Amino acid sequence: MKRIAVLASGEGTNLQAILEAADRGEISGEVALVASDREKAPALERARRHGVRALYLDPRACGSRGEYDRALAAVLQESHIELVALAGFMRLLSPHLVQAFPMRIMNIHPSLLPSFRGMIGAQQALDYGVKVTGCTVHFVDEGLDTGPIILQEAVPVLQGDNVETLQARIHALEHRLYPRAIELFCLDKLRVEGRRCFIELG
Ligand code: GRF
Repeated sequence: MKRIAVLASGEGTNLQAILEAADRGEISGEVALVASDREKAPALERARRHGVRALYLDPRACGSRGEYDRALAAVLQESHIELVALAGFMRLLSPHLVQAFPMRIMNIHPSLLPSFRGMIGAQQALDYGVKVTGCTVHFVDEGLDTGPIILQEAVPVLQGDNVETLQARIHALEHRLYPRAIELFCLDKLRVEGRRCFIELG
């Protein structure tokens, strides 16, 4: 069983989907730690309710982003974490943290990358007028939403959509896609060559 940490700053609905998938046996791993940079993040409460260790790491207690990430990396290493899943973690990771977990940090992003990087994927899709958007699970490298893509799926943008309805459709997809990507990692089925991530069959 792989040991997984989820980092989340907000609501934690993706965390919830991961916890529930693990409960159903759809993830061959254990969420051993949930950490947040926001003390009041509902994600921490979800972790506690699930009996998972919930850790608030206060950014103000660390002088810089680098220092914060060193503290975070130390906690993850002490907890023998093998996969770090970012689920709405609103911080750009420093090179130190990324290098400490090479191709072992994943992120879920609410658009079909490389379109609409940044935090408001649904709004950007509506503003641009695309007919199809979606979500992407990717490995994290040192750029912003630039790492190798693991899974990607599309949703339609409907005529009557507003940010809330489109976001809800993307969110529902995220909740299915993220646990699947995590399970592929747990089964050692992901192989990265350059920018491409291959899924081993069989
Ligand atoms: C998701 O939309 C995800 O794509 C983005 O942050 C959001 C987190 O949502 N990275 P939640 O906290 O899991 O509900």
